[in-house]
Amino acid sequence: MKSRGKKLYEGKAKTLYEGPDPDTLVVHFKDDATAYNAEKHAIIEGKGVLNNRISELIFTRLGEIGIPTHFIKRLNMREQLVNKVEIIPLEVIVRNVAAGGICKLLGLTEGEALPRTIIEYCYKDDKLGDPLISDEHILAFGWANPQELDDIVSMTMRINDFLTGLFAGIGIRLIDFKIEYGRQYDGDMVRVVLADEISPDSCRLWDVETNRKLDKDNFRRDLGDLVDAYSEVAKRLGILHGKNEIPKRSKPVLVKSD
Ligand code: C5P
Repeated sequence: MKSRGKKLYEGKAKTLYEGPDPDTLVVHFKDDATAYNAEKHAIIEGKGVLNNRISELIFTRLGEIGIPTHFIKRLNMREQLVNKVEIIPLEVIVRNVAAGGICKLLGLTEGEALPRTIIEYCYKDDKLGDPLISDEHILAFGWANPQELDDIVSMTMRINDFLTGLFAGIGIRLIDFKIEYGRQYDGDMVRVVLADEISPDSCRLWDVETNRKLDKDNFRRDLGDLVDAYSEVAKRLGILHGKNEIPKRSKPVLVKSD
């Protein structure tokens, strides 16, 4: 059976196709890397394959601890089958250690411990540059209702606890990450489920011993080889075993850089 239908949407790092039935979608992980709202863009061979595998493992593990997700199964090296959801237009960011946006916003030093875990929300709108918002905005504009926001916060804290432990067990500090949620309809029922992806594109991951960055900051800040870093995460998660599984690649091709 052909699993992939018509192309529905092409994003910066993923393309969505119709799935084999009306409630499903096929997500295709591209090799495109973008940063600074797509001002910097390159094709990095192998990235899509690694993110598909890493995200599959994380969503499967989260499903096992009772977090509802859109993930159904991986179809091939670059694609996975997911339930169709209505995306809630929020980027939910969890910060355990200061890095990136919060350092700029509040003048903190990268690596500084935060007094406690902080959840931030950004409104998903590329034209506005995904602005930081508060829960007041979410409720006032109806992007999520109070019950949905409660569910989002409690699931997000559980996901953070679980992922912090998962990565600590393989010598990686989970500094921060971004997740997205969607509404999954089932007849008259609707529930909030984890959607999108969780991969080194959407997390900051530092080696416990050396502080080596194993995430997309390698691309954003030209720190090192992105595929080497993502392969290291995949290897430690037990996904890649032999050298042959690491995608063969040429040098990154810069598409546009400002
Ligand atoms: O840039 P900032 O510090 O706000 O990012 C926080 C976390 O959210 C990082 O792990 C980053 O990779 C992730 N993020 C993302 N997509 C965005 C913005 C942030 O995956 N559009």
